[in-house]
Amino acid sequence: MYDRKDPYYKKAKQEGYKSRAAYKLKEIDKKYNLYHQNSRVLDAGCAPGGWSQVLLERVKNGVVVGVDILEMDSLNHPAFHFIHGDITEDETVERILEISDKYDLVVSDAAPNTSGQKLLDHVNSVELVQKIAELTRKVLKKKGTFLFKLFEGEDKDMVLKGLRKDFDMVKVVKPDATRKNSFEIYVICRGYKGEQG
Ligand SMILES: C[S@@+](CC[C@H](N)C(=O)[O-])C[C@H]1O[C@@H](n2cnc3c(N)ncnc32)[C@H](O)[C@@H]1O
Repeated sequence: MYDRKDPYYKKAKQEGYKSRAAYKLKEIDKKYNLYHQNSRVLDAGCAPGGWSQVLLERVKNGVVVGVDILEMDSLNHPAFHFIHGDITEDETVERILEISDKYDLVVSDAAPNTSGQKLLDHVNSVELVQKIAELTRKVLKKKGTFLFKLFEGEDKDMVLKGLRKDFDMVKVVKPDATRKNSFEIYVICRGYKGEQG
């Protein structure tokens, strides 16, 4: 699956990151300053742990809660909590809220298993994102930030429109570390207006 000649893959190996995806978060954070040392962060779809590693470089007094349906090796960091579970299930939401009742930032690099069929992958990605957005509305504090990955396609605008009701700013970003032929995009939503209704 990984291209060993890929410069980000090599860099991740050399610098001890568990994924090349780590550089995507670094890049987005450099531009948008997503979190600080006291942040409480939820990392949805965290395995093998690259994004959590990046978050833990700065989060000292807060928490980083990683959730994945796959098991992963411990990151050996006192601020890190791993939940082995499906992010779309209510039981997982309860476990997330047991660790912290509100989060400053939710990041999601979660993706459904890809089939290679662009339309199907897009539809599955939209479905997963909608569920993660629903979870985010329950756990994110007012003015908080939500960053997520989406496989591009015709329903993108519908997803963004739904989020614009809940956030002051919704913006599409495509980090350089994303592979050239990839149809993934990242969406950053800032200024959560709080649970409505
Ligand atoms: C691209 S990987 C994340 C890589 C991670 N950001 C890193 O830097 O190491 C996507 C992850 O999302 C997880 N995932 C997909 N659907 C999920 C779900 N419903 N609940 C929890 N995790 C899920 C997958 O198991 C996979 O590990």
